[in-house]
Amino acid sequence: MSATERPSGQQQTGRPAANPCADSAFLRACRREPVPHTPVWFMRQAGRSLPEYRKVREGTAMLESCMRPDLVTEITLQPVRRHRVDAAIYFSDIVVPLKAIGIDLDIKPGVGPVVERPIRSRADLEQLRPLDPDDVKYVTEAVGSLVGELGATPLIGFAGAPFTLASYLVEGGPSRNHEHTKALMYGDPELWADLLDRLADITATFLTVQIEAGASAVQLFDSWVGALAPADYRRSVMPASTKVFEAVAGYGVPRIHFGVGTGELLGLLGEAGADVVGADWRVPLDEAARRVGPGKALQGNLDPAVLFAPREAVEAKAAEVLDAAQGLEGHIFNLGHGVLPTTDPDALTRLVEYVHTHTAR
Ligand code: CP3
Repeated sequence: MSATERPSGQQQTGRPAANPCADSAFLRACRREPVPHTPVWFMRQAGRSLPEYRKVREGTAMLESCMRPDLVTEITLQPVRRHRVDAAIYFSDIVVPLKAIGIDLDIKPGVGPVVERPIRSRADLEQLRPLDPDDVKYVTEAVGSLVGELGATPLIGFAGAPFTLASYLVEGGPSRNHEHTKALMYGDPELWADLLDRLADITATFLTVQIEAGASAVQLFDSWVGALAPADYRRSVMPASTKVFEAVAGYGVPRIHFGVGTGELLGLLGEAGADVVGADWRVPLDEAARRVGPGKALQGNLDPAVLFAPREAVEAKAAEVLDAAQGLEGHIFNLGHGVLPTTDPDALTRLVEYVHTHTAR
């Protein structure tokens, strides 16, 4: 089926009539239904570990690549072709919607997002206007072309969660300790709440654009929220993330919520409104499921650094993940964080095959 033949939007009332992915192992696992095999995809599966990625990216800056539907389509498809993963993740970055509303930022190679004028005062907040779907027409175009190309393989849309976006905006770049962010959160709760609320609206619009264009699931990345204690998360962050999940609830697409180092927050990440909770490698999945509670699927959680070990060791560690996931109602195999750039892509392909073979039922 071509991109133009496919119905462009999904219905507000539950599942779309003719989504060719509806019965895929990935979406079935998200819905906690029986699966023919445990589905697998990898965070950061599209990226520097692939020579074909490095080749097409040559001479094009990261943010510019994210605005070119032809490149986005090609890069998103690369890991699906190569590894036979069960889902594609839309190639973009969490700062793309911020760039789209005019925030002066760049993604520096080897560093990450860098913001020219950090947001630390009420006056700075004015930089954050609402996102209009027309600001990201290239996303609508790329998602449309991708769902046509992908056929029965689901496309996961994504966005950065308000806390993680705020961390880049307030610090001005990547940060180990998030000192400016926490200073604002504890020192001016009202300004902090306004900042997160604006980011929630931007994020909700960005996810909505992807769903309306045909994404079958969405993941909210709150990568750095593990820096917070549960009480602070509940008070200062959860209302904004809940607002994002509520904004897209009516589409009926599975909502995945993930952060690094969030062992103590897993229950709250679910409570914020996720259907699937992603765990990093620090908590075994059976324990993660206990912390999340009933009614939600789990995603994870092989340590991405394990892929640098010999094949037998990778398989032994993957088997541990699968064993811990055995009693779960819904499990999507993933890494506990993104693919590291120097990972051998063949190790990823073998891992997909291993999980598929060892979970076939
Ligand atoms: O394959 C996929 O997962 C889709 C692509 C994707 C990218 N960024 C592409 C990218 C996704 C899902 C993201 C999300 C993202 N971006 C997160 C959340 C996920 C996570 O890893 O926790 C965060 C925190 C960011 C911010 C960011 N952007 C970082 C930390 C970096 C890496 C900096 C570096 O160079 O090491 C980026 C840049 C970036 N985003 C790259 C890619 C492929 C590398 C840039 C390049 O290839 O030149």
